[in-house]
Amino acid sequence: MLLATRQYLYFATIFFLLFVLWSTFRYYPSQGTKAVLPSKLSGLSSVSTPSPLPLTHTAGNATLGFQKVLALSTGPSWRTRGLMAAANLTGLDIDIPPQPPIHPDLVRTFETLGPEDGQRPGHGASIAWLAHLDIIKYTIQSGFDTALIIEDDVDWDVSIRSQAVQIAEAVRNLTSTPELETAPYGRYWDVLWIGHCGEFWDEQFETILYDDPTACPNKYYFGWAKGYLERIPDNHRAVYRSSNPVCSFAYAVSQGGSRKILEQLGAGQDEAFDVSMMHACRAGRLNCISVVPEVVHQYFPHPDYEVSSHVDIGNGKPAGPADTEFEHVMGSTENILESARCRALWNQRCLRE
Ligand SMILES: *[C@@H]1O[C@H](CO)[C@@H](O)[C@H](O)[C@H]1NC(C)=O
Ligand SMILES: *[C@@H]1O[C@H](CO)[C@@H](O)[C@H](O)[C@H]1NC(C)=O
Ligand SMILES: *[C@@H]1O[C@H](CO)[C@@H](O)[C@H](O)[C@H]1NC(C)=O
Repeated sequence: MLLATRQYLYFATIFFLLFVLWSTFRYYPSQGTKAVLPSKLSGLSSVSTPSPLPLTHTAGNATLGFQKVLALSTGPSWRTRGLMAAANLTGLDIDIPPQPPIHPDLVRTFETLGPEDGQRPGHGASIAWLAHLDIIKYTIQSGFDTALIIEDDVDWDVSIRSQAVQIAEAVRNLTSTPELETAPYGRYWDVLWIGHCGEFWDEQFETILYDDPTACPNKYYFGWAKGYLERIPDNHRAVYRSSNPVCSFAYAVSQGGSRKILEQLGAGQDEAFDVSMMHACRAGRLNCISVVPEVVHQYFPHPDYEVSSHVDIGNGKPAGPADTEFEHVMGSTENILESARCRALWNQRCLRE
């Protein structure tokens, strides 16, 4: 008798709880029906639910959709001051990690690696090459997912952040990146070469070509690749697998790409870092993508002042005038329509024409 009463109470309790649950939730339609109900009531055809921003929009953030922007620099100078002014103007976060000293013995060894009749970097090019390797090691040690590496005398357009969103979209399209991939540029590349001093282009190349009114018009384009660039319609930018990019003004590396660069380029034996990376790209040892025309280019001080490059100084050339002599005089930047440096420092354009 006692047992039967207990069983009865037990089932009654469960039934009661189920009833409470049911009565509570039947008034709260599930997510799926929620959107339909109000529109029926109000007569609207649909309720505006905010459409998610495309994943490429983060390419327009303060680090251009990379985890870090790192400037390669030997220390404060006119180069870094102009760089940070341009960064401030365009809202970019740029880190300048301290560059470890490069021992002269290491440079001497590096420039003599490989067979004597083979290609070798000069002294200045060796120093620059080792500095690039150091900053790439730093990206690996820091565990950066991606990093954009820039030289400290570079310049870019005031619209760099919106340019980057288009580049991300083009890179995703070129590499058939699945829609759900969250990395703004996808993950199917080792090197994204956005700043260079020229690149081949041919109609046969599989290319993502898009309108970009901020692209440098062909008639103003300077450099050895002008003839190739003229095949691309004006006010357009092209994104394709690298063929022959030269100058390492700005290139992004993925985590896998950084490791591959160290493996492929760690032992010198070519003319310079950029040429060696280009050779690795072209041979398919690195998976590289070029943006043409480039969106990052070197800024030149005014030609009245003979300011030497780091490589020239490494080769023994005198450094030239002191920064204070020419830093306040506007120079120019090739292939960048609205220079961020010149806008920030002089509120002027300085496209070399
Ligand atoms: C920009 O976006 C990238 C990719 O989503 C992210 O790793 C990075 O932290 C973002 N940068 C900033 C400054 O929020
Ligand atoms: C950055 O720009 C703001 C104004 O937009 C200015 O107040 C600030 O001093 C600048 N910082 C640097 C480091 O140039
Ligand atoms: C990428 O592909 C999409 C879908 O085909 C297209 O709408 C978009 O314009 C393309 N973007 C670029 C930059 O080519």
